[in-house]
Amino acid sequence: MRHCVAKSGEIPEGGRIVVDLAGTTIGVFRVEGRLYAYENTCPHQGGPVCQGLLIPRVEEKLNAAMRMEGFRFDESDPRLVCPWHGFEFSLKTGCHPGKAEIRLTPFAVSEEGGQVYVGI
Ligand code: FES
Repeated sequence: MRHCVAKSGEIPEGGRIVVDLAGTTIGVFRVEGRLYAYENTCPHQGGPVCQGLLIPRVEEKLNAAMRMEGFRFDESDPRLVCPWHGFEFSLKTGCHPGKAEIRLTPFAVSEEGGQVYVGI
């Protein structure tokens, strides 16, 4: 069943809301114009993952000798960081970057007539 969770303007680019819906807490995010919705329960130990930091993917820059020369930040692959123990998840896939089977629980999300809907 589809539920209206917000007006479109309440989730601006790079923004989020966390809502309670039918007994489940869900985070809804907008990145690069697209909406993503996940259960606010971390697959590690149940932390409120949707309330964690949203950061760009961090890559180490290596020289020819494979020595680190700093960091590179990839804004096109935002990561959600669980506030309890720091597990990271790709916002676009919901997967842990090192072990894809550890993943957030997604929900269908859509936008119509200036309203955002989540299916649960
Ligand atoms: S509960 Fe999320 S990292 Fe542990």
